[in-house]
Amino acid sequence: MLYSEKVMDHFQNPRNVGKMEDADGVGEVGNAKCGDIMKMYIKVKDDIITDVKFNTFGCGSAIATSSMATEMIKGKSIDEALELSNKAVVEALDGLPTNKIHCSVLAEEAVKAAIEDYRSRQTAKEM
Ligand code: FES
Repeated sequence: MLYSEKVMDHFQNPRNVGKMEDADGVGEVGNAKCGDIMKMYIKVKDDIITDVKFNTFGCGSAIATSSMATEMIKGKSIDEALELSNKAVVEALDGLPTNKIHCSVLAEEAVKAAIEDYRSRQTAKEM
């Protein structure tokens, strides 16, 4: 079997799918090669990510990895979430085929982009 049970599960029942109207940070990333796009929304309170949502216009592995990534950063501090690597997400999913690893990179980048957006909004507020 090409995909692990966990990948299939997160692909078929993705967690935290949707849009967040009042997000504190939004990150959008894309992969130029396959054309897939991922959007990640985070809600932050006292430096803790209290809620996460994502939307992916992409392949099954992109859906599965972003779903798993949202589960992994929920309840974590900003710094902890920044440390989330695509490797950790892939491991949590019991692996991905090699030619699908780039999809998990998209998930990591989307998390980082959302945090970056959150931080730049904070700096804007302080000014
Ligand atoms: Fe592009 Fe999966 S094929 S994200």
